[in-house]
Amino acid sequence: MFDPDRLITKRARSIDASGIRRVFDLAAKVQNPVNLSIGQPDFPVPDTVKNAAVRAIETDRNSYTVTQGIPELRERINREFDARFKHGGRWAEYGTLVTSGVSGALVLALMATVDPGDEVLVPDPYFVMYKHLTRLAGGVPKFIDTYPEFRVTAELVEPHITDRTKVLLISSPSNPTGVVMDAATWRELVDLCERRNILLVSDEIYDVFCYNAEQTPVGPRCPSPATYSDHVLVLRGYSKTYAMTGWRMGYAVGPKAIVEQMTKLQQYTFVCAPSMVQHAGLAAMELDMSEAVASYKTKRDMVLAKLTGEFEIAEPHGAFYAFPKVPTGETGQKWVERAIARDLLIIPGNVFSERDTHFRISYATDDATLEKGLDILLDLAKG
Ligand SMILES: Cc1ncc(COP(=O)(O)O)c(C=O)c1O
Repeated sequence: MFDPDRLITKRARSIDASGIRRVFDLAAKVQNPVNLSIGQPDFPVPDTVKNAAVRAIETDRNSYTVTQGIPELRERINREFDARFKHGGRWAEYGTLVTSGVSGALVLALMATVDPGDEVLVPDPYFVMYKHLTRLAGGVPKFIDTYPEFRVTAELVEPHITDRTKVLLISSPSNPTGVVMDAATWRELVDLCERRNILLVSDEIYDVFCYNAEQTPVGPRCPSPATYSDHVLVLRGYSKTYAMTGWRMGYAVGPKAIVEQMTKLQQYTFVCAPSMVQHAGLAAMELDMSEAVASYKTKRDMVLAKLTGEFEIAEPHGAFYAFPKVPTGETGQKWVERAIARDLLIIPGNVFSERDTHFRISYATDDATLEKGLDILLDLAKG
């Protein structure tokens, strides 16, 4: 008799998706939702990028590529990396790997660095995958509570370091809070990671969506720890910047020995990033996305103008999220259930956190929907 229960691993069972499933189940019943839950841009893939993918398919660029990514794309990535970071003798040597999304890069990075029982530092709130991928790798996530300001400082991190600590995982701008790490804080953190031989994985998937950006040789960007240290694994993506979430491509640049291990693991798992998307990515990297970024900054301002005063909210300077505190003392789950009853879709804080006191809104939507959603939140805050 077929008995799937005997076959399923503890590893798979250790992932509890019940919180988000409950929200999705409730949300599925809403006919015309006011949707502030979506973690992707609301603009289409730019035409030049679409055309580059079509051209790649039509000219038979449909085979496996080399595992590390097509040379033209890796050269383009390296050029950008060199222009921004290769100065003062840093980054004399590094590795570059084109991956199947930043998700793919995260899987490979953790598989390459985390042995069973090793510890991974995860500032809380965190991007959902960090906790689960750490466990899949056999590692132990060590959460660092960063409420209420969501700033990840060396002072907060240091007491959590043990002999088993291998990795510190940070997204800046952050999903779910939108908070951006400043240069001084990065400098202290990279010093700490270098001193204690910990790999800092810097998830920079939203780095173009930065509303108090640094001017860099490659355009306005959020501060990066790679400016100060070559012990950092930088992960960047195409999903958010060019709205290519379904196309599955990103890249990792960092210490050569680690990227080499990730490349070997990719060879036996993902094989390569989709070939036509690699060609499209090359076209994408020539685009100026500043108009889209400016439009999201206006939406961010709209969120702050409406919610400040009524909600406790850490000012988001990047990405397209805000993470306010539930003002009524209810749990995030309860609050979100009440929101969904009013047709508003948002995500409870416990999806991203060991706490359940906040909720995430995404403002990557049209202004009318955003305004409607914010008005419902103000109404719900009355109790
Ligand atoms: C912080 C962060 N990292 C990584 C990812 C995964 O992105 P990708 O589509 O490149 O796999 C996301 C997607 O939501 C994200 O928010």
